[in-house]
Formats: sequence, structure tokens, C-alpha cells
Amino acid sequence: MNSNAENLIHNGTRMLPEAISTYADRVDTLFYFIYWASVALFIALFLVTFYFIIRFRRKRKEQVAEKQIIHNTTLEVVWTVIPLILVMIIFVWSYKDYMVMSVPPRNALEIHVTGKKWFWEFEYPNGYKETALLRVPQGQNVKLIMTSGDVIHSFFVPNFRMKRDVIPNRYTKLWFNAERAGKFQIFCTEYCGDNHSHMLADLEVMPASEYEEWIAKAASADDDMPLAELGKQLYEKQFCYTCHSLDGSPKIGPTWKGLYESKRPLHDGSTVVADETYLHESIVDPKAKSVKGYYPSSMPSFSSLTDRQVSALIEYIKTVK
Ligand code: CUA
Repeated sequence: MNSNAENLIHNGTRMLPEAISTYADRVDTLFYFIYWASVALFIALFLVTFYFIIRFRRKRKEQVAEKQIIHNTTLEVVWTVIPLILVMIIFVWSYKDYMVMSVPPRNALEIHVTGKKWFWEFEYPNGYKETALLRVPQGQNVKLIMTSGDVIHSFFVPNFRMKRDVIPNRYTKLWFNAERAGKFQIFCTEYCGDNHSHMLADLEVMPASEYEEWIAKAASADDDMPLAELGKQLYEKQFCYTCHSLDGSPKIGPTWKGLYESKRPLHDGSTVVADETYLHESIVDPKAKSVKGYYPSSMPSFSSLTDRQVSALIEYIKTVK
């Protein structure tokens, strides 16, 4: 996990981080138009107000108010039509840009994104899954098909000027084309519970040839690692550590220290021994036998892990004594 967000939000201006996606410049141009239009309006209104304060101030104590003017058609038309023109310009302009951002090109590389409490999971077309790191090829259209495993999250990459809610039982889409290689910060930007602020991920843009090479062998990369070691890696990569400590301290979920073969009191009053079968079930279907004192629904299902990965986690839990 990378918690040092500043390092990943490159250069840019005081207002906006460096623009990396192809449509980011459109967003920025519109942003600066609205920004400078607001500045100009503010200054104009301030100057007029200031002038009126001086010009129409009460100069002598005996001075009385002039007769009230209640209507001036020309003036009212002017102050209605000028803002109307301004907001219509902004409307048409932003609608055009919004359509560009909303309609993914046909040939895009499709990557599935799932938001879960509290991490991001990415699934590539060849079935390979990874959490907390999204890798994409440079200069290619990429389409993200996003959904949530639990509550509403929101996918936000400042450098790409893209942000969209990620909602359970629904698919939302984003697309982009990254103009240069590098690592960029992904945020969750919808408050989704305790560890919302830790729900970070990196977006790594790789040169297209490097990406092809990586994705071709990514799926089999873990195959010859010893199980316990792979499990240790998954503890970090799958964000188990956000809820399960290794030192016995209480977190959202039970600690892993001494967990293996311990007696677990369940919600229904019975107990169960935390053997391999129980641990496997609790990873894949956490609600099935939830331990007393913990919310049954606080853990998402990790049924997306392969059998080997689940075994690796169990082997790792065994080593935490
Ligand atoms: Cu997920 Cu905030």
C-alpha cells in the first residue's frame, strides 16, 4: 500500500495536478474558463460596489434618502441576459466534454474494478486479479467496468481527471487513455466506513510492450512460491492487515495471533475449532460462522481468491503464534 499520496500526484499547477489522460486538458480548459470568469465577475462586482459606496454615501447629517427606484426594464434585462449567456456557454461546453468522458471507445481494453471495504480489486481480461495496483498500457484506450462488493465507494484519479461512484448491484464505467508512463494515486472518495481514508491504490501506466509482457506471465507468477510466504504476501496485498492484527491487538476482525486451532465462540452460542476447513470457509464465506463480538457483515467474501491463495493464507495464519 502506498500512503504517501503527495509523491504520486506529479507536478501540475497550484490548482491542478499534472494532466495525464487524453481528455484531462479539456477538463482543465473548462475549469480555468469558469475560474477566470468567476474572478472577473468578482472583481467587476467589487469595483461597482466600491464605486457606489463612495458615490452614494451620506455626506451630510441632514441628508435624506432619495426617492426609491423600483423598476428599470433595461437594467433587469441586462443582468438576466448576461448571466444566461454565460451559463449556457458553460452548459454546452461541459455537456460536450461530458459526452467525450462518458462514452468509452469501442476498442478499449476492459478491466473490471471492484471496490470492497477497504481495498480495490482489479481483474484483467485473462482472469488475473490484483488488489491495490492497477496496471495499464500507455497510449491505449482503457475502459473500467466498476462495481462494489458492499457499500458505495468512489473511484478517483486526480491526474486523470476521472471520478465516478462505485455502487453495489450496478455497473458504472470510466475510460481513459494515458499519455505517459508513471505511477499515479487512486483514491476512494466516498466515505465508506472506518478505513475509508486507507482505501488507496496505485495506477501504473506502463509502456505497451512492457504491459503485454507483464500480463502474459502475471497469472502464473506466484506458482512456485512456498505457501506460507505467498500467504504473507497476500496478507499485505489483499489488505487483510486493515482488519486482522498479527500481535493480538483487537481490530475490526479477530487477530491472527494464535488463531489456528483455537476455539472460536460463535454468535449462536456454539464453538468451533479454527482448523483448515473453518479458516477456508471463513475466508470464502465470512458470514457462515462469524465469531461472537464481531459484526458478521464487516468482512467481504474473498471467494475471488484461487484455492492455492486461500491455502497460502491458512498456512501463513498457522505461522502467526
Ligand atoms: Cu471506499 Cu471510501
